[in-house]
Amino acid sequence: MNYHALKMPAQVYGGQGAAAAVGEIAQGHKKAVLFTDRGISANGLLQKPLKQLKRAGVEVALFDDLPTEPSVYQADEVIRRFRAERPDLIVAVGGGSVMDVAKLCSVLDTDEYTVFDLLESPGAARKTVPAVMLPTTAGTGSEATPNSIVLVPEKELKIGIVNPQMIADYVILDAELLSKLPPKVCAATGVDALAHAIECYTSNKATPFSDLYALGALKLIYENLENAYSQPENLAAKQNMLLAAFYGGVSIAAAGTTAVHALAYPLGGKYHIAHGVSNAMMLTSVMRFNKPYCTDRLAKVCDALVPQPGLDKNAKADWVLDWLDRIVQQVHIPTDLKEFGVRPEDLETLVTLGMDCKRLLNNNCRVVTEADARKLYADLLLN
Ligand SMILES: NC(=O)c1ccc[n+]([C@@H]2O[C@H](COP(=O)([O-])OP(=O)(O)OC[C@H]3O[C@@H](n4cnc5c(N)ncnc54)[C@H](O)[C@@H]3O)[C@@H](O)[C@H]2O)c1
Ligand SMILES: [Zn+2]
Repeated sequence: MNYHALKMPAQVYGGQGAAAAVGEIAQGHKKAVLFTDRGISANGLLQKPLKQLKRAGVEVALFDDLPTEPSVYQADEVIRRFRAERPDLIVAVGGGSVMDVAKLCSVLDTDEYTVFDLLESPGAARKTVPAVMLPTTAGTGSEATPNSIVLVPEKELKIGIVNPQMIADYVILDAELLSKLPPKVCAATGVDALAHAIECYTSNKATPFSDLYALGALKLIYENLENAYSQPENLAAKQNMLLAAFYGGVSIAAAGTTAVHALAYPLGGKYHIAHGVSNAMMLTSVMRFNKPYCTDRLAKVCDALVPQPGLDKNAKADWVLDWLDRIVQQVHIPTDLKEFGVRPEDLETLVTLGMDCKRLLNNNCRVVTEADARKLYADLLLN
């Protein structure tokens, strides 16, 4: 096969105040389930969407207790409650945790299969309820991807259920929803978006479509992440980060992430380290490991961010790797595994779990052997 696909949400709204568009989208619908979590509702972020839905004459069932980084069992419990409501619209206001469960609901309003079936056969599901995503982190890019990530506790792993039917129908990118985003969450989710973009740009599955969005995301992150983090009132920087995260999601849909995410998953699955933090831990070491196999690509990233005609390809690639190191430090993400209770004797468990994530390791430009994974984890654990 030698063709590429770009599957993305049908309608995307962007700009400060864009959350009001939810009323326009909801016109003609009868009942919406509005998904969110306690952190978001406590910050008063639901007032505007709720007002707009009411104005559009739509009945709303509010689910404001969605879990953070959900397990498959927690997702199943929400899906059961959702089905009992019989809605004809889904509205998700939240980070990746909320959006991922909302996306599962969009294909699980049925007796035919459950979320447990989708772990084995993700392609079985068909969308029956349209979904609107309003991300409040920038971010996972879940608003653009066909993925939903759930923790499977008995495997101690986070598993991605991937089905293009789960791609959202509508996306609204409004920085006002990020006005009270805690800086720690801003940092971790921003580096997650960075990991998506650089992994997709160097993925074996990269396409001209994913390249365009991945490079666009990298440039926006280069110009805005530090400001979005250190100036919480800077909504212009946050709006650009929302765009970057969305672009990162589009590039995931086209190309897929690689070994950074593969080796980070056990850190989330077994030690419950937040998704963005675990990716920040693996980001620079895996990209340095990959460098000999993607020097040209990294040099192109340098050309796109800050053209430096005096440097050769090797030096340009190093410049990008140094930037990755620097940005993780600038936004103060803790990257010492010991701080999170991971002990040197856990090394072999991490290797086994990390090597299990074949779906993403197969996308990596350099083959990752068990010995390579052991060295990458050991560098984090034993230094
Ligand atoms: N589907 C995908 O393509 C995809 C991609 C990457 C990650 N993920 C998944 O997404 C989840 C992580 O999502 P996340 O990093 O966006 O964080 P999150 O959704 O887990 O939110 C983290 C915390 O921040 C709070 N929060 C979020 N937005 C806020 C705001 N604007 N103001 C105040 N508080 C706010 C939440 O209440 C929560 O306590 C993980 O489960 C991860 O595996 C999915
Ligand atoms: Zn991610």
